[in-house]
Amino acid sequence: MATQKKSPPVRGLEGVVAGDTEISYVDGDNGELYYRGYHLDELAGKVSYEELVYLLWYGKLPNKKELEAFASFLTNNMKLPPEIVEIIQLAPPRTNLMTLLRTCQSALGMFDPDGGKISEEANNRKSVRILAQNAAIVAAIHRLEVGEKVLSPSAKMGFAENFLYMFFGRKPNKLDVQVFDCLLVLHADHGLAASSFAARVTVSTLAGMHSAITTALATLKGRLHGGANTRVMQMLEEIDSPTSVKKYISTMLSDGKKVMGFGHRMYKVEDPRSRHLRKYSQKLVSRPGVANLYEISQRIEKQVMQEKGIFPNIDFYSATVQHALGIPKEYFTCIFAVARTAGWIAHIREQFADNRLIRPTSRYIGGYGNKFVPIDKRE
Ligand SMILES: CC(C)(COP(=O)(O)OP(=O)(O)OC[C@H]1O[C@@H](n2cnc3c(N)ncnc32)[C@H](O)[C@@H]1OP(=O)(O)O)[C@@H](O)C(=O)NCCC(=O)NCCS
Repeated sequence: MATQKKSPPVRGLEGVVAGDTEISYVDGDNGELYYRGYHLDELAGKVSYEELVYLLWYGKLPNKKELEAFASFLTNNMKLPPEIVEIIQLAPPRTNLMTLLRTCQSALGMFDPDGGKISEEANNRKSVRILAQNAAIVAAIHRLEVGEKVLSPSAKMGFAENFLYMFFGRKPNKLDVQVFDCLLVLHADHGLAASSFAARVTVSTLAGMHSAITTALATLKGRLHGGANTRVMQMLEEIDSPTSVKKYISTMLSDGKKVMGFGHRMYKVEDPRSRHLRKYSQKLVSRPGVANLYEISQRIEKQVMQEKGIFPNIDFYSATVQHALGIPKEYFTCIFAVARTAGWIAHIREQFADNRLIRPTSRYIGGYGNKFVPIDKRE
């Protein structure tokens, strides 16, 4: 066997610039996030999700007329082919909901009237359908899970309101819509996150948008990415009381375990999205169980900061906020996916607009000169 040359490992592509983008910028050193040049604080709580999606896709905030047309186009597309509803019904009990969402999204590609087309016009129509239908799938999964019928969107409601209505089966109150709308805005895009990169790799081969969104959903599922928010809730429930935080977190850290909802590849300081979500969870403390979760969260934050010097990321307070809205924890990552679909589509469109196959190089650290041994002579 030839000797192997060992070089220092290259792991996780940290710091590698893998492409140019105008969509969003994560300034990890200063804890800032920009969407199309607008600082997050300029937009969060001021724009609706539809406005932000328009900005991410078309590079400018819409005027009133553009927004109205875009929002109603989105609402009109929040409907599912009956076959997708059947797929949801056929899923075995306890199927992971991100697996189900990914499967439905993949299947939607077969029912899309523009399936197989990658022209700009087809992609414009598909962008809206995919965004609207991803939300409709998640709402439908919940309706069927609680034994209720799948609802159609209301033409009188915006995206966030329609989602909550189609998910819970009742008209949501104003505060819930406001908070959920902002939650979607905060999750909408984040530089070259693993799922956005994965989506870009897929479309760079000229596979279509449904394939790329399926890839992105598969990538978001993992607990080092979007799957962390469900785990945060599990942890908060396990801790149960503020007085149990100290021991629980100390044990986790001394066992070398990662505290879910903390740390980030890009941010060396506080994640600016978590600042907004902390504020919202504080605003909702009067809701059942939220004061306890908020107190536990505050203590965890303080301790992880003191012992590890790391900050909460978007998934930490997102768990409490979603819980306060009445969303079951199994759906948290799906909600992240609904919001991030805007960013994925923006990346897909940007990639299509100036495509070149993404095909990096690996550093070969294996051996050379091996001699073939026939099977009956091998040990
Ligand atoms: C997000 C994440 C995957 C980034 O990973 P990364 O850039 O590869 O960073 P690493 O995993 O190499 O961590 C660097 C150091 O910080 C520590 N660290 C990072 N996140 C940590 C966490 N959540 N809890 C405890 N320690 C953590 C690591 O143990 C490591 O310490 P060491 O150098 O002493 O070994 C990582 O912080 C993590 O696993 N967080 C928990 C999952 C999560 O919340 N994901 C959602 C991200 S939005």
